[in-house]
Amino acid sequence: MISFELNGETVSTNVAEDTPLLWVIRDHFKLKGSKFGCGMGLCGACTMHVDGEAVRTCILPLNAVANRKVTTIEGLSPASTLHKVQKAWIEHNVPQCGYCQSGQIMSATALLKTNINPSDSDIDRAMQGNICRCGTYPRIKKAIKAVAK
Ligand code: FES
Repeated sequence: MISFELNGETVSTNVAEDTPLLWVIRDHFKLKGSKFGCGMGLCGACTMHVDGEAVRTCILPLNAVANRKVTTIEGLSPASTLHKVQKAWIEHNVPQCGYCQSGQIMSATALLKTNINPSDSDIDRAMQGNICRCGTYPRIKKAIKAVAK
């Protein structure tokens, strides 16, 4: 049995402890905002926060989050409200197909938590592991800068 904090609530599960966290969250806790892209830690679609840091959960075994804090896109802000980064994403029409965007937002919020005024290169460095097939990168940067202002 592994226990951890999920979006502010303590949860426990009997799922095999080497199961990637992404599948635990999607299949067992039914939170579908985090996406499966590559399954190899290369695209960022599965990004969640673990103790506030952006982490690729498709390659993170469940036992790595025992007694730690996991935040998914669903837990980024209190129910029925939007995080300021989500608001900026809407204001700047960031998404195209949308598939990678929860991972993008989780990486962006992790960056802004530790760096309230990131430079272009800070943004490039923090976001380089989040791939977008639609090429929304310029709008992502604009939205992050709008929040940083
Ligand atoms: Fe996890 Fe691509 S699905 S990094």
